[in-house]
Amino acid sequence: MFNKILRRAPEAVLGLEERKSVICKEGPPSHIAIIMDGNGRWAKKRSLPRIAGHHEGMKTVRKITRLASHLGVDVMTLYAFSTENWKRPKLEVDFLMRLPEEFLSTFLPELIEENVRVEMMGYHENLPQHTLEAIRKAKEATKDNTGLILNFALNYGSRSEIVDAVKVIAEQAAAGQLNPEDITESDIADRLLTSKLPEPDLLIRTSGEVRLSNFMLWQLAYTELWFTETLWPDFDELTLVEAIEDYQKRNRRFGGLKGEEEV
Ligand code: FPP
Repeated sequence: MFNKILRRAPEAVLGLEERKSVICKEGPPSHIAIIMDGNGRWAKKRSLPRIAGHHEGMKTVRKITRLASHLGVDVMTLYAFSTENWKRPKLEVDFLMRLPEEFLSTFLPELIEENVRVEMMGYHENLPQHTLEAIRKAKEATKDNTGLILNFALNYGSRSEIVDAVKVIAEQAAAGQLNPEDITESDIADRLLTSKLPEPDLLIRTSGEVRLSNFMLWQLAYTELWFTETLWPDFDELTLVEAIEDYQKRNRRFGGLKGEEEV
């Protein structure tokens, strides 16, 4: 613990580039999940329509993806649209459904150059064809990339995801393929949309809201949580660096004890 403190120069005296290097040296979180909140308030503060906030939020997605990729993060999951977001006005929903298309058509060459692989988790039902098609094309064009996985949670809801996993398990148990006595945590995790991904190490939520909003409830069991007042369109490289530095100072025990505390 002391070694770690001594090795790390005080952030205040380091420039942003040096702080990024320290993060790389110490090992960045493997999986960062982000609840991108505050687009509406960002727009309201400027007397702009809410959709202007979402559009600005899309630009933040680009900046943060590039930084996460440079820092060597393996997976970044972004909560772009929840199963509850359909309750918003049609104009806003339609705009949000166009954003992946705009983002991917504008930045796909950059994502390819950065070796980023695009993925999506969420329900395909109800998503417009043009949104699905944009995602399909980006997944196809980046499928062999080996760098950062940029995972869009789109029409995603964690409780439904868990219910679906339970249904599959119940069907298998009813068919005699699985003994209820033998069901393990892995049996559930393997049937979630994240079955091929590591669990998030760090969850960030912007805009001062301090809740999970039906996001990755199973997967976040041991994740470090980090909240900021910053609205998503204002979230920048420095804020991500601060979040990761905080994460790197934390002592993750996963319910146990760290070596030096053992008797
Ligand atoms: C929550 O802010 C944000 C959303 C529901 C949408 C998030 C989408 C983006 C940031 C753009 C995504 C970009 C791509 C490429 C898919 P809010 O509208 O609830 O803000 P408020 O709480 O201030 O009203």
